[in-house]
Amino acid sequence: MPVALTVRALAGSLPSVSTSMLVVPVFESDTAADHQEIDAATGGELLRALEAREFRAKPYEAFGVSPAGWATRRVLLAGAGARADWTTERIRRVATAGALAARARGAADVAFVLVSGGAQIGVAEAQAAAEGLVLAAHDGDALKTTPREAAALHRATVVVPDASLTWSAAVERGRVLGEASNLARELANEPGNQLPPRILADRAAAAVAGTGLTLEVIDEHGLERLGMGLLLGVGRGSAEPPRLIVIRHTPRAAGESRAATGPVLGLIGKGITFDTGGISIKPSEGMERMKTDMSGGAAVIAAMRAIAQLDAPMPVVGLVPAAENMPGGRAIRPGDVLKAASGKTVEVNNTDAEGRLVLADAFWHAQQLGATHLVDVATLTGACVVALGKLASGLFATPTWWGEIVRETATRAGDRVWPLPLHDDYLELLKSDIADIVNTGGRAAGAITAAMFLREFAGGRPWAHLDIAGTAWADEAKPWQPKGTTGVAVRTLAELAFTSARWPAAAA
Ligand code: BES
Ligand code: MN
Ligand code: ZN
Repeated sequence: MPVALTVRALAGSLPSVSTSMLVVPVFESDTAADHQEIDAATGGELLRALEAREFRAKPYEAFGVSPAGWATRRVLLAGAGARADWTTERIRRVATAGALAARARGAADVAFVLVSGGAQIGVAEAQAAAEGLVLAAHDGDALKTTPREAAALHRATVVVPDASLTWSAAVERGRVLGEASNLARELANEPGNQLPPRILADRAAAAVAGTGLTLEVIDEHGLERLGMGLLLGVGRGSAEPPRLIVIRHTPRAAGESRAATGPVLGLIGKGITFDTGGISIKPSEGMERMKTDMSGGAAVIAAMRAIAQLDAPMPVVGLVPAAENMPGGRAIRPGDVLKAASGKTVEVNNTDAEGRLVLADAFWHAQQLGATHLVDVATLTGACVVALGKLASGLFATPTWWGEIVRETATRAGDRVWPLPLHDDYLELLKSDIADIVNTGGRAAGAITAAMFLREFAGGRPWAHLDIAGTAWADEAKPWQPKGTTGVAVRTLAELAFTSARWPAAAA
């Protein structure tokens, strides 16, 4: 477990804020006059640095100064770019970059000054700042036994414009969502040998403890009883048996009637704890990355924790079909036909297209549990990485309004998504000669045919699919995001559970 992080909102004048590093955003167009207090207390240092172009306030640039007589001696001027670009996304990233830079300089206690770019700032901005600070607390090297150089973040503060109470609630919400993102990053980072399906279920138990969520873990015998031939089939090549992890949130003050008749959000995350490809085995180059093939499942577990902590006003079920895709002696072979829990028969022409198989059975169970609206998150296809690179997740949805809600929510949450089409004609590519459907449709439109396969199992309910194959792992470090697992989609899933008032009622 990471060191406990305290996060708070604090109103006060800058010289009086006491912390080990005070992060102050500076815009490109700012002059020393915009930061008179700092400039005066540093003997004109800011003016000098700006004039010498030593500090240009480009996004994520950092410049340290030492104001005389302030409660905090170390101030980090954080490049914030153009005032017009001071969005929640930019705020989140500048807060992370500032806190990471502070940690690298040995500061364990960081305060970030929530400034305005010109427009009115409010709770969304305060929440984003808190999220950003908490995201900077994540470390991807938990298994190293040598001490790390950067300080561990113990306390993060958002310095807010006034003493209103609403800031505190917003900062607390940001803390919960930031911590959830970090939990998903930690889970996804765990090596395959340490996180088989059984242990992922234990991690889910730890994540729900004390939150009011209920957890059910269905083992291989239970899966047999439920007829989950797809999930069992994928798990068969491994010595580690599959699991279906089921987490439920019931709103604390559930108006009984609404809980019984209103919409139920179903979140489903791909939980392949390691993907060798199975008998259709992957090349060894880069295969180690396939320990992150449960990133979607990690996102669902972490989002469920946040949903309970924030007491989302609607019931939510979270499902993680977990299996290890291995080429053992009992593994499924290309050409095998499996029977889904829904009754459909699937010809497996490629055992490396395992994600859609395990998700399909989980979709069925989500519907059995009453889910009316489905969202799945999965590191599903290399084809999606080819289409969108590593900068956006693929979004597939039906009907269109449901996709729009997911897209708007993702944008707000700081998860970049981009829509890809689901024309019925693509279904042609999934025709089987001997079964109801095949599991892969060839190289062309690989991300789309994978989504089309999933759609066949969504029971006609509003359904959205996020393909996070490219976004779950960052190949290179950025100032606002270290190399490694990203926690993508966690905040989107959690925030979605707060949007039901805007869903068209009849569609449920
Ligand atoms: N887990 C992979 C997809 C993946 C690729 C995730 C790269 C992250 C980075 C998935 O199970 C898979 O193997 N998909 C195949 C599908 C193909 C056989 C139709 C792929 O993308 O090659
Ligand atoms: Mn695969
Ligand atoms: Zn996979």
